[in-house]
Amino acid sequence: MKIINVASARPNFMKVAPLLEEYKHHQEIDAQLLHTGQHYDYEMSKIFFDELGIPEPDFHLGVGSGTHAEQTAKVMTEFEKVLKREEPDWVVVVGDVNPTMACTIVANKMGVKVAHVEAGLRSYDRNMPEEINRVLTDSIADLLLTPSIDGNMNLKKEGIADEKIKFVGNIMIDTLFNMRKRSDESTILADLGIEEKGYALVTLHRPSNVDQEDTLGNFVEILEETAQDLPMVWPVHPRSKNRAEEFGFWDRLQSIGNLHLLEPVGYLDNVCLMNNARLVLTDSGGIQEETTALGVPCLTARENTERPITITEGTNTLVGTDPEVILDHIKKHLQNGVAGTKDLPKPLYWDGKTAKRIVKAIKEYSI
Ligand code: UD1
Repeated sequence: MKIINVASARPNFMKVAPLLEEYKHHQEIDAQLLHTGQHYDYEMSKIFFDELGIPEPDFHLGVGSGTHAEQTAKVMTEFEKVLKREEPDWVVVVGDVNPTMACTIVANKMGVKVAHVEAGLRSYDRNMPEEINRVLTDSIADLLLTPSIDGNMNLKKEGIADEKIKFVGNIMIDTLFNMRKRSDESTILADLGIEEKGYALVTLHRPSNVDQEDTLGNFVEILEETAQDLPMVWPVHPRSKNRAEEFGFWDRLQSIGNLHLLEPVGYLDNVCLMNNARLVLTDSGGIQEETTALGVPCLTARENTERPITITEGTNTLVGTDPEVILDHIKKHLQNGVAGTKDLPKPLYWDGKTAKRIVKAIKEYSI
């Protein structure tokens, strides 16, 4: 059984790593890795391959940046050539980035079965490019592998047949558990001169938060005010850095005492930074889940989330994008402390064994 696994952007790499490991236990599976090249900088891509022990991709499409249409079209054209040549039995796509959708469409039209890992998540906000990718991918993929039961319910509401939907758990947590010990060896806290529980970690890169001057300006103010009470660390995504420079905020950010502005950090440093943070302020999808698994309080600066289980069964709070509301939440956290979150029970099947369930589901579906 030949399976081509697609990875494209930073949040994909931790999702394919445990799958590639698991395939090794199944001799009948010939697993190949394809990198579309949406993320291409060392800090956005290669460092994850090195740290997570992901092998060199068998295929590299080298697609790079561009508008959504350009990225999607280039992936489709190049991926079609690979599928024609390789004739795989399955394509496995993960997450919700542009190539997840692009490769699903190509494979589906060529009669190749598609499994979508992290299916069924919905923010119900179609202004979000990722939501369009999720809905389109799930509407035509053959096997929909969900990280939480809300995913199953969303898919059923969309009329997807029961036999295509399988609750397997959260694949990112496999990687988190595998790498947790090694992340303790990271020296990033000492390098930055910060202490356990003595700082907040910030990550912001959603187009809705960083692409408009007034919205990004609000976040600059939030950081200026919060850094007076608590050191902050922000590994800045290339999109956010580009915008901050474009809007003239970069010098202002650099002048905030107590704010450590970093290049994007690797996986191990990021887990170390999350695990030891007093608080995380983010708009990332994956970080909402990782903080829940680590038991670290997370404030999500968005109006909605496709990962509601991190609120109902985790440490996440949706705080929107109004600066006063966000500052109020941060102040409350600083006043009330954060005791007790570390040992909260974790959502079902966020147990480090999701890759096993995924490969089993693909094999059963193939019989
Ligand atoms: C993409 C995903 C998003 C994911 C995020 C994680 C889509 C629609 N969005 O958003 O779901 O959360 O990745 O990082 O697929 N850039 C570099 N170096 C790189 C990669 C990108 O400089 O290695 C620059 C690009 O040139 C571009 C900007 O960063 O200007 C944004 O990159 P892009 O991949 O288009 O979207 P992301 O915002 O990263």
